[in-house]
Amino acid sequence: MATSLPDLKIGELTINPPIVQGGMGVRVSGSSLASAVSNEGALGVIASVGVGEEWPDQSLDYPTRSALGFREMIRQTMDATPNPIGVNIMCVLTNYESLVRVADEEGVAAIISGAGLPLKLPGLVKNPKVKLIPIVSSGRAAEVICKSWAKKHGRLPDAVVVEGPLAGGHLGFSREQVDKPEEHRVERLVAKVAAVVGSYGQAGNVEIPVIAAGGVYDGTDIARFLKLGAAGVQMATRFVCTHECDAALAYKETYLRCTEEDVVVINSPVGLPGRVVRNEFVERVLRGERVPFRCAYHCLATCNPKTAPYCIAAALINAYRGNLDAGFAMCGTNAARVDKIVSVRELIDELVEETARAL
Ligand SMILES: Cc1cc2nc3c(=O)[nH]c(=O)nc-3n(C[C@H](O)[C@H](O)[C@H](O)COP(=O)(O)O)c2cc1C
Repeated sequence: MATSLPDLKIGELTINPPIVQGGMGVRVSGSSLASAVSNEGALGVIASVGVGEEWPDQSLDYPTRSALGFREMIRQTMDATPNPIGVNIMCVLTNYESLVRVADEEGVAAIISGAGLPLKLPGLVKNPKVKLIPIVSSGRAAEVICKSWAKKHGRLPDAVVVEGPLAGGHLGFSREQVDKPEEHRVERLVAKVAAVVGSYGQAGNVEIPVIAAGGVYDGTDIARFLKLGAAGVQMATRFVCTHECDAALAYKETYLRCTEEDVVVINSPVGLPGRVVRNEFVERVLRGERVPFRCAYHCLATCNPKTAPYCIAAALINAYRGNLDAGFAMCGTNAARVDKIVSVRELIDELVEETARAL
């Protein structure tokens, strides 16, 4: 049911409330969370990374079981909600193309793609109804994508997510930039990216909505971004502490227990800084210790298993399963503010009410 908030319109797709739940790997946003979010009218998003890890037949190779697991997860999600769902596919994945093809074949409403520039994305998708949404961290990245997509594929992004340095997971900034978040505030980035996509959109006679992400915590934040010209927001950290979030309770409890000092940035084998909740495992990583591993699959194009200090895929799947001795939870800067686990409905109702009041 539509709320009193403005719609997030992406072509003919209407999302209300104008909230996209950010994709969270590994398996943190699976079918349970994504369908619950879409059932409330916001856009639920499955993260595609590591989805083959629970596939019953582990004798299959990594790309095959990932594609099978992803397809099954998309179908489960679509069965659980009549509303549109999105998927998040990181460019850095070695099986990127295969996952995009699965999402395209299954007819998801949107493919949201960052952790690199998704320059190949339009060439991989056949279904014209699937919305293609890059995640960028600068006006320059938006420019490169628009220019390349227009020239090579004759199309433009259907929307753009602008993610600032306060976000969770892997960050599209250098360590120095992450340490000076003020200079790269998403509020400023929204204006820059809106200017770029606005001019491409005008030339192509299309509307390209901008969706702000990274540190959006409550309705006051949402209202601020809407007033700044964003058409919607993408939020992830808030959705971890919901009953429906697919991660183990122990994962959610790391958020409930953590203080601001526990939220730290590490250099991830992905080749990008990543924000995480400090624990014993993270301490070892921060001390520069190596956690030996044997790479069973080369899941990340940017990871060199010979030199990587630990396996990020294993660390994240362990954390998702609740084994935080052998991994860690990723989070946004605001994780320490989360103090209870609620239902997705309660969270969205609260956000809508706060936003309406602040508008
Ligand atoms: C636990 C966790 C996992 C994440 N995993 C991914 C991912 O797999 N792919 C991606 O593009 N972004 C990922 N993100 C980023 C979110 O999708 C989102 O854009 C960002 O966290 C928004 O900031 P917020 O957490 O402050 O709301 C992750 C974030 C968190 C908290």
